[in-house]
Amino acid sequence: MRIPDVAESTPLGRMLPQSVRRRLENLTDNLNTVLAVQNPRVMAQMAPSAVRGLFLKVGRRGEPVAMQAGHAALFDFAYPSNSPEMRALYAKAKKLQWDAARDVDWSVSVDPHDPAVPLLPEDFIAWDVIARYAPRVTPEDRRDVIHAVSAWMLSQFLHGEQGALFAAAQVTEAVPSMDGKLYGATQVMDEARHVEVFHRYVTTKLERLYDINDNLFTIIDSLMTDGRWDMKFLGMQIMVEGLALGAFGMFRKVTKEPLLADILRRVIQDEARHVHYGVLALREHFTQHLSERERREREDWAFEVAVLMRNRFLAFELYEERFGASMNWAQWTEVMEHSPGMNLFRTQMFSRLVPNLRDIGLLTPRIMPHYERMGLARYFEGRSALQLGDAET
Ligand SMILES: [Fe+2]
Ligand SMILES: [Fe+2]
Repeated sequence: MRIPDVAESTPLGRMLPQSVRRRLENLTDNLNTVLAVQNPRVMAQMAPSAVRGLFLKVGRRGEPVAMQAGHAALFDFAYPSNSPEMRALYAKAKKLQWDAARDVDWSVSVDPHDPAVPLLPEDFIAWDVIARYAPRVTPEDRRDVIHAVSAWMLSQFLHGEQGALFAAAQVTEAVPSMDGKLYGATQVMDEARHVEVFHRYVTTKLERLYDINDNLFTIIDSLMTDGRWDMKFLGMQIMVEGLALGAFGMFRKVTKEPLLADILRRVIQDEARHVHYGVLALREHFTQHLSERERREREDWAFEVAVLMRNRFLAFELYEERFGASMNWAQWTEVMEHSPGMNLFRTQMFSRLVPNLRDIGLLTPRIMPHYERMGLARYFEGRSALQLGDAET
């Protein structure tokens, strides 16, 4: 079922003031996002977060947000050490700590409009599609849009890092393995550093911080409030971190700005360790300790979140700010779908995520046809975090 956009498709809708039309179109689009979730159990699990994120827009009110976490903090006074791989990861993580204030050269000056040092290449965006709806875009406007797209993406990275910081803290309490808890503490520190470094970069170098995207808020809210440790792990360590790792890799590959490239190189090294940890912890749990019904529920959940991230990361906040007056949401979606940079971004995200889902047992013949329909079959045999292992960490 799909609800039509009455603001754009009916004569009465088109008579409404533009601000009301934009609000109606966003409401319709968010309703369609919720209706697109095919699995009723997944829909029920995500519904409260979707209401807060997509409809009440709690993340964009400019005030602190309370998310009620319901997990159990698990103590073990016998201190068992039974995971040598996790122990090795902990030892490595302690050695590879870096200081975001001291080790990064913040004296590098950044001019987001300098064509000689672009944050992202100009052809990141489908200008030919934009020209159909907004014909009077100048070269200076283009540079400003690239600045805005970069700031929007890095702002989402920053908000994701805040989610990762709190999720890592929760997981450290809740994970059963003592080796996992010790490792988890290093991740909490890593994520704090990532919040520090991205916040400093977007506010002092790009001087532009965007609100959290409603869909990202919904996913984070759903993870924070789910009491099951393995769902937090799956959501944060595999889905959000895996997708972020792909996004960071894409950004690092195309940016010509040296300070950002250096920051991303450092963050990628940490994130690869986090995904590796997630795969180690979940591989055993999913394949040995869950019933088939519980495993299937996670398989469906992971797929729905993957769809949400693929289809919904469309820079709505940017559209609202820059192009809300010259095109409608469907036209902006067309721009995003044809933008080479956004396509590279999506490709990179899934090239990392799909092999990791395979390694933790969530890519079975039952769900594979769904990923195939999304054009993701080419990643079924890709290299996972475990196979990449030392190459990245
Ligand atoms: Fe991080
Ligand atoms: Fe992380």
